[in-house]
Amino acid sequence: MLLLTVLLCATLANALPHPPQQVPFGPSPPSPHPTPPPGFQTYDDTVAQDKPSTPEKRAAMAKLLDKYAPVFKLASTERYYPSSVPFMLEHYDFVEWENGTQFEPTRDVFSSSRLDSLPHHGKRQHLSVTPPHNPQPLVDGPESYFLYGPSGMPDGMEYGEDGRGRVHDEVYGFWVDNGRGVVDLWYWTFYPYNLGKEVGYFGWLGNHVTDWERLRVRTVNGTAQSADFNTHSGGAFSAGTYRWSDMERQGERPIAYVASGSHGVWPTPGKHVYAQLLNLWQLVDMTDDHGAIWDTKGHVVPIEWWTGPDLAHKIKHTGKESWLEFVGSFGNRGDSNCWWHSIVGICQLVGGPPGPNRWFGDPPDCIIGGAAPDHSTYSFYLSRNVTEQARALNVSTVLVEQICARPEVAFDGEVDWNTLRADQMTVWTVPGRAIPFRGTAQHHATADPCGGGRSAAKAYRLALYNTAGERVSTSSLRVLCMYEPGKRGWVLSPAADIDDVDEWRWMLKEKQREDPPSHTPPSPTSNGRPPEY
Ligand SMILES: *[C@@H]1O[C@H](CO)[C@@H](O)[C@H](O)[C@H]1NC(C)=O
Ligand SMILES: *[C@@H]1O[C@H](CO)[C@@H](O)[C@H](O)[C@H]1NC(C)=O
Ligand SMILES: *[C@@H]1O[C@H](CO)[C@@H](O)[C@H](O)[C@H]1NC(C)=O
Ligand SMILES: *[C@@H]1O[C@H](CO)[C@@H](O)[C@H](O)[C@H]1NC(C)=O
Repeated sequence: MLLLTVLLCATLANALPHPPQQVPFGPSPPSPHPTPPPGFQTYDDTVAQDKPSTPEKRAAMAKLLDKYAPVFKLASTERYYPSSVPFMLEHYDFVEWENGTQFEPTRDVFSSSRLDSLPHHGKRQHLSVTPPHNPQPLVDGPESYFLYGPSGMPDGMEYGEDGRGRVHDEVYGFWVDNGRGVVDLWYWTFYPYNLGKEVGYFGWLGNHVTDWERLRVRTVNGTAQSADFNTHSGGAFSAGTYRWSDMERQGERPIAYVASGSHGVWPTPGKHVYAQLLNLWQLVDMTDDHGAIWDTKGHVVPIEWWTGPDLAHKIKHTGKESWLEFVGSFGNRGDSNCWWHSIVGICQLVGGPPGPNRWFGDPPDCIIGGAAPDHSTYSFYLSRNVTEQARALNVSTVLVEQICARPEVAFDGEVDWNTLRADQMTVWTVPGRAIPFRGTAQHHATADPCGGGRSAAKAYRLALYNTAGERVSTSSLRVLCMYEPGKRGWVLSPAADIDDVDEWRWMLKEKQREDPPSHTPPSPTSNGRPPEY
């Protein structure tokens, strides 16, 4: 489902008067392509060559992945079931460059140990199938049945005593060691096919060959703290970050609901409206608790991603893991020749997704912290890379900027912040007290609460100043999610108590903010009220 929404977002931004949930501090949907997070030493497919961790560490991580192996509940209306990657590799027939030129590598290239041998690791290439692959909504004939996945093929499903299907395909468990005991477990699921959405006269739009989706679990010193539920390119289109205690679980393991056809991962069963198309059709993900159960315990393929947060050198995967070095698309090119392409932005068939080698090292969708009554505290770390960049720029002072928001005065009664549009709220910044730059040591800053009724601290960012008092760089925003002890879900609070364990990483000289830089750090006596303009 990734590509559909990216396209929708990109092409429909103008058609949609108000893209839902697009608040100024909302995380922007990440790129669908495996771009390196900024601020890393190497994250380049051609440079990956570091030695993996010790066997002991790898074994411990495999155990951790199994400990939290998710139980995925597939929808009762699902037709397009998961598969392993090797299952799909057997069904590819040719490779197509993005410019339309096709070629047929020797058959052995379509294997987990040889896929990487495609030119430039498959860059700008699509692994492609020949049989019909644009179901509306079912496939035409037996030669396309593999698109249903092993469990969706005739007589392919195993049933439990409860009459519900059982699926046993492997998931790809990437463990990413962020240091200080923080390990992210990314469970990537794979499907031979993604059925898009039915959109009036246009039929089923956004179909694509193969689908990669994920559930990310954050562990601290071996214990799960939270999970990120992602779908539709993430960001504001997903359920986002949940505290562990707020999640449905089976024993210690998370339960996640998979959207029918498009396979996005949600924390609850039900109807999830995530976008509007041309203001006419709601785009909806349906999940329920009546379909097949995919318990991944014992089926997680453990994969090490990098050497650790300090160097963050990507491991070069070899042998049966070398398919992870493939950087192309896992499914056929999409169509752009339908008559409505210029209006709606997509045809029925869109291009297949890139592989799961994306986004590792990014912080969760939101940074979890306690609601604080009278002032905010922020503890955070700068990565070694940021520290070195900062030293070269003579950075001496760090400033936290707390982003506050409140609904417009005209907005009465109960406010659902999730559906509040940018034009329905006021957003402003409360600068914290400037603190000395401390390199990679933990920084601690305080800030006044967001002033005024119904206001809430929604995000924070960092600004770096040099010895001359010039602002040399501003980070991107990190969204905040606040809780009150003993209370489920998130609360709104004018102040936050944030202990951010995700090192800040950004390119200090590339990511300048749009506002003209101010020449002195704002005075620590800011009144914390919205600006008058
Ligand atoms: C930080 O990482 C980037 C690559 O992401 C690299 O180009 C840069 O040289 C690094 N800077 C330092 C000071 O290590
Ligand atoms: C498409 O790109 C490939 C790889 O760069 C090249 O070999 C091929 O000639 C190109 N085809 C066309 C029609 O430009
Ligand atoms: C993990 O445990 C170590 C050792 O007890 C501790 O120093 C560290 O702060 C813990 N990590 C976090 C994020 O709490
Ligand atoms: C940093 O400070 C040193 C010594 O004061 C100066 O020579 C250098 O030009 C400064 N660098 C930058 C990037 O401002």
